[in-house]
Amino acid sequence: MEPFRIKAVEPIPFPSLLERRRMLSDAGFNLFRVPARAITIDLLTDSGTSAMSAAQWAALMTGDESYAGARSYERFETVVRELTGYPEVIPAHQGRAAERILLGRLLRPGDVSVANTHFDTTRASVEAAGAVAVDLPAEHDAPAPFGGDISVPALRELLSGPDGARVRCVVLTVTNNAGGGQPVSMDNVTAVRRLCDRHGVTLLLDASRFAENAYLITERDPAHAGRPPRDVAREVFALADGCWASLKKDGVANIGGLIALRDAELARRCRDQLIEVEGFPTYGGLAGRDLDVLAQGLLEVTDPDYLRYRAQTARWFGDRLAEAGLPVLQPTGCHAVYVDAAALLPHVPPHRLPATALANELYLAGAVRVSELGTLVFGRPHPDGGDDLPAPRELVRFALPRRVYTKSHLEYVAETAGTVVAKAAEIPDYRIVEQTGPLRHFTAVLAPGEPAAPPGRPAPGPSSPRPGPG
Ligand code: F0G
Repeated sequence: MEPFRIKAVEPIPFPSLLERRRMLSDAGFNLFRVPARAITIDLLTDSGTSAMSAAQWAALMTGDESYAGARSYERFETVVRELTGYPEVIPAHQGRAAERILLGRLLRPGDVSVANTHFDTTRASVEAAGAVAVDLPAEHDAPAPFGGDISVPALRELLSGPDGARVRCVVLTVTNNAGGGQPVSMDNVTAVRRLCDRHGVTLLLDASRFAENAYLITERDPAHAGRPPRDVAREVFALADGCWASLKKDGVANIGGLIALRDAELARRCRDQLIEVEGFPTYGGLAGRDLDVLAQGLLEVTDPDYLRYRAQTARWFGDRLAEAGLPVLQPTGCHAVYVDAAALLPHVPPHRLPATALANELYLAGAVRVSELGTLVFGRPHPDGGDDLPAPRELVRFALPRRVYTKSHLEYVAETAGTVVAKAAEIPDYRIVEQTGPLRHFTAVLAPGEPAAPPGRPAPGPSSPRPGPG
């Protein structure tokens, strides 16, 4: 059960089917553009959506808003140093600012950054530096419990091949958000460390979900069973040269980011850039009170009771969605349950966005908002104007905000999913009408195709009402 009780509550909206249809259509059929006042259960992201603890709200009142050298920074620095072991601690307002600053100082045009999977904003920062982002996920040769691992054989081959000298850094995203939220094993981090030492390459962590990764190591690797997750997290940090993180995840806060490094010279260059784009190095785009909230969150997040609840919730929710008929990726991680939209909607080809089609249908059916991690996010426009280059997988992510929704909220989502599954064959495809930039999914305008004909019935005409419960 939830290892907390509720002290403050917030009402949630229940828009009618008519309102849901209008909202989705007004939003260009892009759930990022639907206002939160029209969402009943919001599983769009676990980022910045956490409920803070009483201790965090109390810490907020101790915030020191001095421009330079605030006590809030000192408290934040102490907690981050104790956790990571890295002496250089640089706050940023969120993860992508930290990525942009660090990768922009580290990478030169023509360099290569190799990762288990670069998250979309990470890839954008690598490419903005003129470097190349290479993903080498070990999904196919790793043992199932650690689906977030990087492929060590593929990494070895790259490092000792003709392009090896171009590799500037290896990034391990823990957990691997784009790859199903799966953990990276201690053995994998250790093996990558050895390869990086041999080839003189920097090993960095995208530590946005470091606590969940550490907990899953204690659950899935008998060699680490029963260890405090905080100790496991420290050991993972010790194997790397530094990290960045979006603290909107395992900082259990609504805003924040971080760079932490061993290399004082690289840190100096990051701070110079930070001053230009974020703010003075002791606040980095945050208020002093945010730093106090984060310092407290970074202490709470490794609580074994909290992490056990988090993993159990995802597992239980994954089982409910699977019972409702959704093809759920197993095993579940902590921060989300991922569903294979291509398997549910075989009539929708990748360039007609099956993951978007499923996500939009969940919204129409019950004002549930989830995110697409398929061709809209990870695909690319075809260079010759043909069908989009597809993403490797068409996933829909049911992200779990930290300490926000109860089991009955998630039961409602599973019931909603059941109604969508029942008419899966009729769900329409989508095409992109307007798009800009490498992060097109945030703003793209889409249009649905004809709803597919239900078995035994002709396809409805353009003015027919969309299918869906009242
Ligand atoms: N790295 C990872 C692994 C992430 O999941 C994210 C954000 C970022 C970096 C960027 O951090 O949002 O603070 O700027 N992921 C969010 C998500 C948006 O929904 O998964 P940010």
